[in-house]
Amino acid sequence: MQGVRSRGAAGSRKGALTASSFGHARAAGGPLPARLASMPTPISRAEAWDLLTEWVESSSLRKHCLAVEASMRAVARERGGDEEAWGVAGLLHDLDYERYPDLDTGHPRKVIELLEARDAEPELVNAIAAHAPFMGVVPETEMARALLAVDELSGFVVAVAYVRPQGIHGMTPKSVKKKLKTPAFAAAVSREDVAAGPAQLGLELDELIALVIGALEAEADALELNGSEAA
Ligand SMILES: [Fe+2]
Repeated sequence: MQGVRSRGAAGSRKGALTASSFGHARAAGGPLPARLASMPTPISRAEAWDLLTEWVESSSLRKHCLAVEASMRAVARERGGDEEAWGVAGLLHDLDYERYPDLDTGHPRKVIELLEARDAEPELVNAIAAHAPFMGVVPETEMARALLAVDELSGFVVAVAYVRPQGIHGMTPKSVKKKLKTPAFAAAVSREDVAAGPAQLGLELDELIALVIGALEAEADALELNGSEAA
C-alpha cells in the first residue's frame, strides 16, 4: 500500500519531465536523479492483451477479463474517463489469478510487482491493488472506483446471461436486480459490493447495470453470450 502511494506521488510529476531532459542527464555522465530514473509509461491495449494471453490459459478467465474491459470502456465513455487506460485496467486486473490464486500470498500482488517493474502508471497499479478489498488499498481515482464497481457486476451479468435462452440479449436491469435478490444464484458474488459500487461513480444501480449489459451485449460473440437460442 505504501509503495502504491509513493509511486502515485512520483506519477504526478511526470508532466514536468521531457525526453530531452532525460537524455541530457544521461549524456552528462552523472548519476540520474532518482525522480528521473523512473518515468511511468502507459500500457497499450495490445501489450495488455499479449500479457493476458501469456499469463492466462483459462478461456473463462480470459473472457471475464474481456468482459470487465468492455464494462470499463463503457463506464469511461459515460464518465469522461480515458477509455484505453480504463479498458487496460479491466483487462489486466486478474492477470495473476490463474498462476497465483492464493489470496494471502498471490493475486493481485504478482501483477502489481510486474506492473511496477514495468514502470506502469501509478493509477493503473492503484486500481488493480484496490480492486482486491483484502489488500486494504484505497481506490484513488475514478478509474479505480469503476474497476471495483464493475468487476463483480460484470461477472454477475454474465452469470445471468448463461441461464437465459436469449443470453445477454433483451436483458434488463430489472431482471438482473431480481437475480441479485436470489441469494443462491451466483452466491460468490458479494451483493454488498455490487450495491455499493454505483454510488462511488455518481450512478444509480440501474444505470450501471444498463451500461454493463450494453457493453457485454456489444461483445456477445467474443464472450459467447448469445444464449442457447442462437446455437
Ligand atoms: Fe475480476
